[in-house]
Amino acid sequence: MSERLFIFDTTLRDGEQVPGCQLNTVEKIQVAKQLEALGVDVIEAGFPVSSPGDFNSVIEISKAVTWPTICALTRAVEKDIDVAAEALKYAKHKRIHTGIGTSDPHIKYKFNSTREEIIERAVAAVKYARRYVDDVEFYAEDAGRTDNEYLARVVEAVIKAGATVVNIPDTTGYCLPDEYGAKIKYLVDHVDGIDKAILSTHCHNDLGMATANTVSGVLNGARQVEVTINGIGERAGNTALEEVAMILRCHKHLNVDTNINTQKIYPTSRMVSSLMNMPVQPNKAIVGRNAFAHSSGIHQDGVLKNVQTYEIINPKDVGIDDNAIVLTARSGRAALKHRLHVLGVEMSQEKLDKVYEDFLKLADKKKDITDDDILVLAGADRNVNHHIKLEYLQVTSGVGVRSVASLGLNISGEHFEAAATGNGPVDAAIKAVKQIIRRQMTLKEFTIQAISKGSDDVGKVHMQVEYDGQMYYGFGANTDIIAASVEAYIDCINKFRK
Ligand code: KIV
Ligand code: ZN
Repeated sequence: MSERLFIFDTTLRDGEQVPGCQLNTVEKIQVAKQLEALGVDVIEAGFPVSSPGDFNSVIEISKAVTWPTICALTRAVEKDIDVAAEALKYAKHKRIHTGIGTSDPHIKYKFNSTREEIIERAVAAVKYARRYVDDVEFYAEDAGRTDNEYLARVVEAVIKAGATVVNIPDTTGYCLPDEYGAKIKYLVDHVDGIDKAILSTHCHNDLGMATANTVSGVLNGARQVEVTINGIGERAGNTALEEVAMILRCHKHLNVDTNINTQKIYPTSRMVSSLMNMPVQPNKAIVGRNAFAHSSGIHQDGVLKNVQTYEIINPKDVGIDDNAIVLTARSGRAALKHRLHVLGVEMSQEKLDKVYEDFLKLADKKKDITDDDILVLAGADRNVNHHIKLEYLQVTSGVGVRSVASLGLNISGEHFEAAATGNGPVDAAIKAVKQIIRRQMTLKEFTIQAISKGSDDVGKVHMQVEYDGQMYYGFGANTDIIAASVEAYIDCINKFRK
């Protein structure tokens, strides 16, 4: 019988800190319900004191989800803890996650404090949180760079104060796997009362070692891992849930397992990627487009003879179904509804009717509708409240001529038109938009997601625009790549022109 490893999912907190990937409350509830179906034990739903949006999301997720514990993040500050407790009031199982930096750089530069004072603040925060809830997790921020002897003193003190889980974050992604594992082992061996709490890993991926460090932590005694779907998160991201879950399934001899329903991994990955407009790199382990695509002749030959030659995971075990019914213009509402359900998206009849209408329009333009297309269609009404909408776009371009674009925008019900030339069709169209908007903004990033299934496929454009010292993220999807680019640009503008 395997030992149980608890999965603490922080997609909606640490993962959501990625610039431009913020979700609204409705989208967060959708992800939270999917995480529940996936079988995670804890959902970190937000940092309630940080914004009214986060506060509200924690409330609504608490109402929407039954089985997982709902966790809210705080600093070691009474006000934060008060607000977190209030936000968690509807949760069936609740946890407050409080903590403070423990490494010397944090103590000296962030808090201008001393090691002893930090222990006092940590203990006070845990005791204060315990007045509200029985389940309190403490994080020692930058534990990865905290010396083990001092860290052990902090951990011992917070367990004595009532912490039920102690999180050892490698906040900067600095540790080597052996070093991180040794840190967990040191705590297991040196902390009095360690059996009264669960040790948790929380590894960032700055040096590409998040998953290796997490597994090393588990092998040395950690029994909770903090992870995100697709490994999303600030900078290089967090540990990917799907990687840890599948490592433990593949290496059964480790005798540690999770409650994850692995067949829900792929649909959850697609949902998070689609709602956050965050593409998954094609070679991403477990969920990347190429993760199970054998392209070299030798590998194809081997796989055709016996899949065990080159495949350690059956794609079906993570929810990738090559035989999935392909939707076309002849598919009915029921087929669309079923496919949405498989992808983890539930919606009202009214919304389904709208998505079906858009589906038929898209099916007119392209032969086969992919899961990605369906997820984009399902999320499309996120733009309905935008002030600025693209009404029409006409572009002339070619070799040896300068591109010309003319377009019409609807801005809060008023119609505006402009035309511009540029050194390409996108340049011309964006110049035309700028003529109407007249703001000083700079296009910083422009990614067109690869079209993989034929020339009629939907092109997806991700953009980042800098305005007034801030970055704004935009997304557009269209079978016409120029229109997708203009939509993404307008999406950015809508975010600062609220
Ligand atoms: O990386 C980190 O240290 C964190 C803590 C706030 C838990 O995210
Ligand atoms: Zn983190």
